[in-house]
Amino acid sequence: MADVTTVPDKPHVRGRAKLSPAMLLVIAVIIMAGVLFGYDQGVISGALAGIQKQFGLGSLLTEVVTSWVTLGALFGSLIGGELADRLGRKKAVLCAGVLFSLGAIVQSIAPDTTILVAGRLVIGLGVGVAAVAAPLYGAEMAPAAWRGRFVSAYQLAITIGIFLAYLIDQLLAATDHWRLMLGIAAIPGLLLVIAMALAPESARWLAKNGRGDAARRVLDRLDPDADNAPALAAIESGLRSEVKSASWRDIFAPAWRKPLFVALGLAVFQQITGINAIIYYADEIFARAGFATPEAQTMATTWAIGAVNVLATFIAIALIDKLGRRPLLLTGLVGMGVSLGMVGIAMHADMPGMVTLVALVVFIISFAFSLGPVVWTVINEIFPGAIRGRAVAVATAVNWASAFLVSQFFLSLVGLIGEAITFWLFSFFCAVAFVWIYARVPETKGRSLEDIEQLWR
Ligand code: BGC
Repeated sequence: MADVTTVPDKPHVRGRAKLSPAMLLVIAVIIMAGVLFGYDQGVISGALAGIQKQFGLGSLLTEVVTSWVTLGALFGSLIGGELADRLGRKKAVLCAGVLFSLGAIVQSIAPDTTILVAGRLVIGLGVGVAAVAAPLYGAEMAPAAWRGRFVSAYQLAITIGIFLAYLIDQLLAATDHWRLMLGIAAIPGLLLVIAMALAPESARWLAKNGRGDAARRVLDRLDPDADNAPALAAIESGLRSEVKSASWRDIFAPAWRKPLFVALGLAVFQQITGINAIIYYADEIFARAGFATPEAQTMATTWAIGAVNVLATFIAIALIDKLGRRPLLLTGLVGMGVSLGMVGIAMHADMPGMVTLVALVVFIISFAFSLGPVVWTVINEIFPGAIRGRAVAVATAVNWASAFLVSQFFLSLVGLIGEAITFWLFSFFCAVAFVWIYARVPETKGRSLEDIEQLWR
């Protein structure tokens, strides 16, 4: 199963490293996988109105069409790690690319709701496989000096994908071209397949599977000017000293309950505080807040949600290693909780749509510099090497399961208890998350992974 150990640092790449064409291909693959992930998450927001009109969907089927990507992603993330281990990182990302393209095509030609939902499920599988395999591939391919930037690039790419989806929705809003909105993702899906086919397999995976010569050739391609023999030796010695991969049962052993609890708690809180209710249903929320035309709704969604989400992610990249994880999480939760409370008040008191708009912008900024990137960072750093791969896959699956529940039941909840109380409920979860994180989540900034392991003893 997937466990992350990276190509060891090489002194000559520590400073201003030159990126080889092969390394640029690797970056292109990571960015494309992230963008596709985000695009397929975000695009449904603008496509819903057209789909509802064409297939005459009620609330329940609208929720199914929206949320089954998440259900697919749940299963995809569980099989993504196994695929990456058995077939290699390259074939796992290739699989994700094929699923992305196939799902996009199926959706765009769907004659009825059943086929549409099947397409959504296939895309979801691609999202889940990519969510595990692409960051793993990136982390293994990056020289240590570049690893942070590689992984941040993936985070940022997701928000860029969501933004692009909104932008295309906006361009096509007036014409109801929902098939084009969903189908267009087949093109970057194919580009991902082509880029990945040309990109090298992870040297670490090759070495682990007894293909040292092939691993050496990959290292030479990535860094043609260097003598890569020491790097290969370091990978091989790392593999020898590595503890045998843990079984699924080991993850739940009492010794690792604490980090598992922290990871699962963060995974759940990231979702039940409402982010994807807003990412997926932004247009609907703006419609309810009084933005009358589809053009006005998608305009608000694109810029107030999509663009702001991208920009605010830079705050996290700049601050996460300086201020630490806890201050970002706690400050972000205050912003999220207060702004969600405001949205509830605005909906309750029928205030002008501008109030909802401002509150949602504050919410997105607060999420993008805190729970968005920080939760993934912490989940990936708190487990010991032997259980990291599987434990991260479990946390990722729980995150998707929570996202599924929220996106599946958001509209029903609104129907049942009203918009205001629904947003107050999200706000209440922010308060619970604040208290829980304050009490339970340790600061991991600047600590080595071995140090973090000691925290739990
Ligand atoms: C979350 C996604 C969410 C995205 C929004 C990610 O960190 O895991 O569920 O859609 O942020 O930017």
